[in-house]
Amino acid sequence: MLKLAVFVSGRGSNLSAIIQKIKSGKLNAEVLAVISDKNDCKAFEICEVEGIEKFVISSISENSEYIIYDELIKILFAKKIELIVLAGFLKKIPTTFVNTFKNKIINIHPALLPAFGGKGMYGINVHKAVFESSAKASGATIHFVDEIYDNGKIIDQKVVDISDVKSPEEIAERVLKVEHEILPYVIQKFAENKICLIENRVIINRD
Ligand code: GRF
Repeated sequence: MLKLAVFVSGRGSNLSAIIQKIKSGKLNAEVLAVISDKNDCKAFEICEVEGIEKFVISSISENSEYIIYDELIKILFAKKIELIVLAGFLKKIPTTFVNTFKNKIINIHPALLPAFGGKGMYGINVHKAVFESSAKASGATIHFVDEIYDNGKIIDQKVVDISDVKSPEEIAERVLKVEHEILPYVIQKFAENKICLIENRVIINRD
């Protein structure tokens, strides 16, 4: 079973999708820790129900409720975490953390990178930008995390037709649906060791 840590900041619907796939037996993984920068996020309510350990992270140590990244690294090592999933985590991950878990951190982005990514491109902002561009397709991207926002190598993407949408919210709804499919799919591919880097490209064995 692939040992996961999931980073969240908000509602946690992707966390929920991962947990549901695990429960259905289609994802051979376990969520051993959920990390958030907010101690009152909705995703933590899911942890309460599911009995998953949660941690509140801060870049600076100011409050005993919070842990800092150096402490988190030790915790994740102790738990033998194999893959870190950023599912709606809004804070920048420090470079030392990224380097410690090189090629072991993935992020889900609600658009087709490399377009509509980067600083400020989160939540409804992404879908507004896509809507205003008049793009006819959007989708979800899973990519490796490096020290630059939304910049790491793309692992997988799923496209959705938005040629008939009337609002950014409608795009968000369609994209979220495919996010909940593609994220557990990619994690399962990691569990099966079917994702590798060959000549700087990420290859997924889809068998
Ligand atoms: C998702 O749209 C994800 O792509 C983005 O943040 C949102 C998180 O949603 N990075 P949720 O918390 O998983 O419901």
